[in-house]
Amino acid sequence: MATTIRLVFLLAALVAIVLAHPAPAKIQKRSFKVPRSINRAHPRGLNGPDAMRKVFSKYNFYTSAGFIANTKTPVTLEGLRIAANNGSTNGSGTVAANPEDNAALFLSPVDIGGQTLNLDFDSGSSDLWVFSTALDQASIGQHTAFDPAKSASFKVMQGAQWKITYGDGSGAAGTVGTDTVTIGGVTVQNQAVETANQVSQSFVRDTNTDGLVGLAFSTLNTVNDGTKKTPQKTFFDNVMNDLDQPVFTADLDPDGTGVYEFGKIDQTKFTGEMAWIPVNASSGFWQFPSAKFMVGNQTFNNPSASQAIADTGTSLLLVDQQVADTYYSQVRGAQLNQQVGGFIYPCGAALPDMAVAIGDSYMAVIPGNAITFATVDQANTTCFGGVQGNQGAGLQIYGDTMFKAQFVAFNGGNQSLGFGQKPSI
Ligand SMILES: *[C@@H]1O[C@H](CO)[C@@H](O)[C@H](O)[C@H]1NC(C)=O
Ligand SMILES: *[C@@H]1O[C@H](CO)[C@@H](O)[C@H](O)[C@H]1NC(C)=O
Ligand SMILES: *[C@@H]1O[C@H](CO)[C@@H](O)[C@H](O)[C@H]1NC(C)=O
Ligand SMILES: *[C@@H]1O[C@H](CO)[C@@H](O)[C@H](O)[C@H]1NC(C)=O
Ligand SMILES: *[C@@H]1O[C@H](CO)[C@@H](O)[C@H](O)[C@H]1NC(C)=O
Ligand SMILES: *[C@@H]1O[C@H](CO)[C@@H](O)[C@H](O)[C@H]1NC(C)=O
Repeated sequence: MATTIRLVFLLAALVAIVLAHPAPAKIQKRSFKVPRSINRAHPRGLNGPDAMRKVFSKYNFYTSAGFIANTKTPVTLEGLRIAANNGSTNGSGTVAANPEDNAALFLSPVDIGGQTLNLDFDSGSSDLWVFSTALDQASIGQHTAFDPAKSASFKVMQGAQWKITYGDGSGAAGTVGTDTVTIGGVTVQNQAVETANQVSQSFVRDTNTDGLVGLAFSTLNTVNDGTKKTPQKTFFDNVMNDLDQPVFTADLDPDGTGVYEFGKIDQTKFTGEMAWIPVNASSGFWQFPSAKFMVGNQTFNNPSASQAIADTGTSLLLVDQQVADTYYSQVRGAQLNQQVGGFIYPCGAALPDMAVAIGDSYMAVIPGNAITFATVDQANTTCFGGVQGNQGAGLQIYGDTMFKAQFVAFNGGNQSLGFGQKPSI
């Protein structure tokens, strides 16, 4: 009897130790906001092909033509034949992205051991990783690099490492420590911080991101001890139980800036009732079925639909190929351009609304006027769509094209997503 009680106490003490590490400092605020802004320091944004390449390589998708995932050098847009209004081509030459009209780089300030970095909040991954001073200067370039030596609170996690690899061989890797991380005024002590000592060219080129704050489920975290996985908790998992509600919301404006709010659902940000959809967290993503879509007023079934994930770290709405084909069949002059790697159309074309199913009961509407991602030519006559096909990759990735039209709550308590239609853009 006495032994049993002692054992219970011992277990309780162990549980308390385990739970106490890492722990948020006493949270005074039970909810907090973090702005998401365009990184003005880095003038060049993502163009359409960059955005396609980024999502294909993030999710390890290959294309039959290999023109996106397998190439590490930017697709050359010289000599692109541009769709004319009647659907034929107009061979007027040079194509360049206009960074101003596609706000693809969104950063939020994060304090790590007293150093402020601008990180991308990414609901499609689960690592908090940063450019660090362990990288050579050429790789750091214009990035802000975290210097562990200058942080009094950084502690090395002995033997721990992390590595993210993509299908095209690109990736990032490094060592791991813990540090005091403050986001929106809320602090987590002993948050796992993954410092990069290797980054491939695609990250070097992407001067817009000093690192990521992964907000998918902690099971996807890549930290390991060299032989086995030792997944670390995300910042959200660490603070979740101390919040008023175990949620964070993404409220993105049409220009892609906006606010992430933790702990609270602001009912004024959407119209009508919020629709709640259970997520399938088995893959570690905020994943759900999406087997129906609408183009304008017409509803289509997608019987062989891939499941979909909600990913704030992706610019586009990447749908099953037949969904994109069906959508652009309703857009005058649209064509799937192999060289650009996606659907383009004359910027003057009328775009129907698009809706994608979120689970079985909710259709997320994206107004036609919110579909365009970027122009592809200097004259702004040809546009690259924010809705693109996944070329049979087997997963639909619902990124910022959707978030600009939908207010989305990520509920880690009951593993569900809440959707509310934003007032029309
Ligand atoms: C489409 O436009 C091009 C260039 O203006 C023209 O040469 C062609 O005849 C047009 N085709 C049709 C089907 O109208
Ligand atoms: C092609 O587009 C350019 C730029 O918009 C325009 O100046 C030119 O007249 C167009 N040519 C044809 C054949 O439509
Ligand atoms: C999850 O929790 C929210 C409250 O935050 C509730 O409205 C919703 O019905 C729940 N969803 C599921 C699928 O349990
Ligand atoms: C949940 O996701 C997994 C992995 O993507 C998939 O294999 C499974 O079919 C899904 N389950 C349901 C109920 O949709
Ligand atoms: C779609 O439906 C609405 C309401 O029924 C109607 O007002 C609108 O004209 C329809 N649009 C199209 C393109 O059919
Ligand atoms: C195209 O759009 C960009 C961004 O809005 C603008 O700066 C540029 O002047 C436009 N070019 C033309 C030829 O209208």
